[in-house]
Amino acid sequence: MSLFLLISLLFFSPSQGIGWYKEAPHPWPSVVKSPLPQMKPESLPSSFSWREDHYLSPPTNQFLPNPCGGCWAHASAGALTDRFILKTGVIIPHLSMQALLDCGREEGFVEMGSCEGGSDILAYDFIYNNGITDSTCSPYMGVVFTNWAEGTKCTQRMCRQCDTFGNCHFVNGTLYHISEYGNVTGEIEMMTEMYARGPIACSVYAHTDNFLKYTGGVITDDTPYNVTTHVISLIGWGTENGVNYWIGRNSFGTEWGEGGWFKIERGKNTLNIERHPCAWAVPKV
Ligand SMILES: *[C@@H]1O[C@H](CO)[C@@H](O)[C@H](O)[C@H]1NC(C)=O
Ligand SMILES: *[C@@H]1O[C@H](CO)[C@@H](O)[C@H](O)[C@H]1NC(C)=O
Ligand SMILES: *[C@@H]1O[C@H](CO)[C@@H](O)[C@H](O)[C@H]1NC(C)=O
Repeated sequence: MSLFLLISLLFFSPSQGIGWYKEAPHPWPSVVKSPLPQMKPESLPSSFSWREDHYLSPPTNQFLPNPCGGCWAHASAGALTDRFILKTGVIIPHLSMQALLDCGREEGFVEMGSCEGGSDILAYDFIYNNGITDSTCSPYMGVVFTNWAEGTKCTQRMCRQCDTFGNCHFVNGTLYHISEYGNVTGEIEMMTEMYARGPIACSVYAHTDNFLKYTGGVITDDTPYNVTTHVISLIGWGTENGVNYWIGRNSFGTEWGEGGWFKIERGKNTLNIERHPCAWAVPKV
């Protein structure tokens, strides 16, 4: 193991208490133009998964090629990628996490975060104001490149094109935009939003063995946690042996959990998943 990797792993080791999630200042920003979806709780199906009949963006790995606390960028870009696919029926490449990282601390833009953690709702705030490119022209590198091309803004560095000789330059790439974004809290609001419009980005207290060392099944945990440390996306829910659960996608690669996916108990605020607001965004197509 290289010294760099060793130091990185130590630095990002959860036992050091380093969070990946940074709470946005309250009140959270939002742009809500149409009425929020409403459903009677009893009319929500007992199980529902966008993954059953649709292609969704696959789990990513925030730790490769460099360990980075970029869960907030992975989860928000992942849920939004899903929503573009669901809304248009066209499979698109994963929206760029790297662009969010590179703009995450640049002056003149909302301070979303970095490899030391960040906020899903602020990522949507940024995307609302600037749009976002896809990862084919801004691939995830797990490091923050900021202010390295003097005189240009990070929004002009969200897309690179290279020729067959390896000469690369920045272009104003195709941008994906959103028309609205906001938050939902609690089981019913989360289910309603997800059922009506697609996956959402939520956060959990992830610095527990049951999450970090998860290999499958439904995560249960009665411990009350009053903070969250990690952002994931939720894509559906179900019931198994009388236990209600959420279905989530993580950003720890496919070696973690059930091929990168997980289930966590629903309705009991497990790992603080329901008491903490989740973020949603509506694709502009
Ligand atoms: C969530 O959005 C609503 C507006 O839809 C806002 O009133 C509320 O303050 C937001 N939540 C947080 C935690 O800021
Ligand atoms: C991208 O657009 C900006 C502003 O519209 C412009 O200043 C810049 O030169 C463009 N960059 C490229 C590489 O075309
Ligand atoms: C959680 O809440 C308990 C009791 O209200 C408090 O003692 C503790 O400091 C809180 N922990 C965090 C991390 O906020």
